[in-house]
Amino acid sequence: MESQFTWMNGRLVPTAQATVPFLTNALHYGTAVFEGIRSYNTERGPAIFRLRDHIQRLVNSARVLGIKQLPFELDVLIDAAKETVRANHFTDCYVRPLIYLSSGGFNLNVDFASVGVGIAVWEWHQYMGPEALAKGIRANISSFTRHHVNVMMTKAKISGNYANSFLARTESMRLGFDEAIMLDPLGNVAECTGENLFLVRGGKIYTPNVNTVLEGITRDSLVTIAHDLGYEVIEMPLSRDQLYIADEVFVCGTAAEVIGLREIDFRTIGSGESGPITRHLQQVFHQVVRGQEPRYAEWLDAVNAPLMSQPASAVPAE
Ligand SMILES: Cc1ncc(COP(=O)(O)O)c(C=O)c1O
Repeated sequence: MESQFTWMNGRLVPTAQATVPFLTNALHYGTAVFEGIRSYNTERGPAIFRLRDHIQRLVNSARVLGIKQLPFELDVLIDAAKETVRANHFTDCYVRPLIYLSSGGFNLNVDFASVGVGIAVWEWHQYMGPEALAKGIRANISSFTRHHVNVMMTKAKISGNYANSFLARTESMRLGFDEAIMLDPLGNVAECTGENLFLVRGGKIYTPNVNTVLEGITRDSLVTIAHDLGYEVIEMPLSRDQLYIADEVFVCGTAAEVIGLREIDFRTIGSGESGPITRHLQQVFHQVVRGQEPRYAEWLDAVNAPLMSQPASAVPAE
């Protein structure tokens, strides 16, 4: 089903009318920040997973980019996301808020541009398909390095950052792999083009700390779930060859959810399919996002629940 409505700067408009002029700053310079969020069908109707955390990260990303004043309060954006899902009568869908520099600012100064906000939704089920979910995927170490923390800001989902992801994933897929693993400028494992990464060795779970990578919300959810299931999770720098000799490697993100890696750089990982701990976390995560694990009920924001916000007003991003 096509999306009928998109939220643009304070109101729902027909999606075909949710357009921006050619001289939109963000289109020329990647000066936008965005989120990738998912709504799932649950017994209580559609519910958005960790919506407040995503919108908070969106506002944080705007702050990192240097935007001083946002046109909408956090609660307004939360409600707008729900309103957009509801208006489109979607259950399982992807929610894409974007804060962008609109007109002005062609002197490369954020302070001289005006700020726009939109929220699009589209119906969506799986990013990598059922086979990837069951069997795992193949990845390579990218020839492109992930951002240095003082070149691009890795805590922010700034649109321009994603040129790096496009370089890496396009290369990977042209080489016949499914995903690229990126190393940071020191040569440690950072993350994939749109996922955080974990490995399992001797029953323990390891993941790079968040110093150089995006503070993934799925990563955070899995660390919590893994602890609750009794697994030890260790955050530390990881080298490329630690991936090769791991028992299991898996990646996670809003789009990919939890996906095992069965091969990296032509080396079979573990038994060559999604390993038992990967499958355990995958299975529990799928229950959590569908509201089947009462312990994590607060992570789900029912789309049909009453709205939270007051009428829109300006809010500082810092
Ligand atoms: C570069 C990068 N790393 C990690 C992630 C995973 O983050 P999350 O779990 O919040 O979707 C994403 C997706 O947003 C991403 O773009």
